Amino acid sequence: MASTDTITTTAVVGSGYMGGGIAQVLASHGYKVALGDVDGDTAERARARLIEQARGFEAHGLFPDGAAQTIEGNLTAAGSIEEAVVAADYIAEAVPEEPALKAAILRRISAAALPRAVIGTNTSAIPIGELAQSVDTPERFLGVHWMNPAPFIPGVELIPGPDTDPDVLNLAEELIRALGKTPARVADTPGFVANRLQFALYKEAAQIVDDGAATPEQIDAVVSNTFGFRLALFGPFAIGDMAGLDVYESSYRTLEKAYGERFAVPETLTATVKNGNLGLKSGQGFLDIDPADRPALLAYRDNAYARLSHLRAQLGAAPGL
Ligand SMILES: NC(=O)c1ccc[n+]([C@@H]2O[C@H](COP(=O)([O-])OP(=O)(O)OC[C@H]3O[C@@H](n4cnc5c(N)ncnc54)[C@H](O)[C@@H]3O)[C@@H](O)[C@H]2O)c1
Repeated sequence: MASTDTITTTAVVGSGYMGGGIAQVLASHGYKVALGDVDGDTAERARARLIEQARGFEAHGLFPDGAAQTIEGNLTAAGSIEEAVVAADYIAEAVPEEPALKAAILRRISAAALPRAVIGTNTSAIPIGELAQSVDTPERFLGVHWMNPAPFIPGVELIPGPDTDPDVLNLAEELIRALGKTPARVADTPGFVANRLQFALYKEAAQIVDDGAATPEQIDAVVSNTFGFRLALFGPFAIGDMAGLDVYESSYRTLEKAYGERFAVPETLTATVKNGNLGLKSGQGFLDIDPADRPALLAYRDNAYARLSHLRAQLGAAPGL
């Protein structure tokens, strides 16, 4: 399992929303992709849809010139899951998020695939260790979690299960990089990192609606115009270090009084503040940012936010919202 040179032929099982986008990315980067779905007709319809969509993306400058033709040349529709995976070096599983269905499909994939084929599941939240029980050689199995829409979201989470061979993880990482994406290795806990955070935000947003404190429209406007705006550039720890962790700690105290345990000050935050690490203002926070880099980081931030504001103004409001 040396390098992505060993991967030329791939398969995507489940050619819907996510599988379709993953297939477009693989095919546009020169990999042969066989689509497998409930039957050959469904796979063939997906192939036609993905090529048509790629032509539209290319016409609008979202895909490079020639990408649609490359995709058309590399994408085939298989008559069955077995036919799709039989010659594949890498297989992406993207059937619906139902544990029993995924288990059954993974059993079929691993029975039909080459023994050396790497199998990556796009599950959103099911532990990889649980799904690995349905793969006959779990060493070659891992989570490769793309976000939607797959062609345009830069990051992909890589989640090794308890038995994943480190070489398989390295190979998957190399493949994701070769596809122009940014891989992040994360632990095998339900929801991994992205969805655990995303669903925590969604739950609190739904609670605000249920409390009658704001409408979904109001919440969306606040999020996308305030702290969500920043998240396109920085994660919560960089943002916290820039804001000042003493401010975070005292805000949690107020929130805990109102909403209870779920807003208790995180222990690790208390410990960090107690040690005098308040973020950029004290030179140290959660992140190991060299104090010498502080002026450049703040200048980068201000420039990036201003440019992002201009981009949003250029794009205009999202239709229907
Ligand atoms: N939709 C998202 O935003 C998103 C984001 C990240 C990850 N995911 C995950 O990706 C996976 C796929 O989600 P999706 O949104 O693309 O679903 P989808 O419904 O759009 O696509 C699922 C595809 O699987 C096919 N399928 C269903 N049963 C099958 C079977 N028995 N054999 C073969 N193919 C079968 C369907 O025909 C369809 O083409 C899920 O695990 C989901 O959690 C989804």
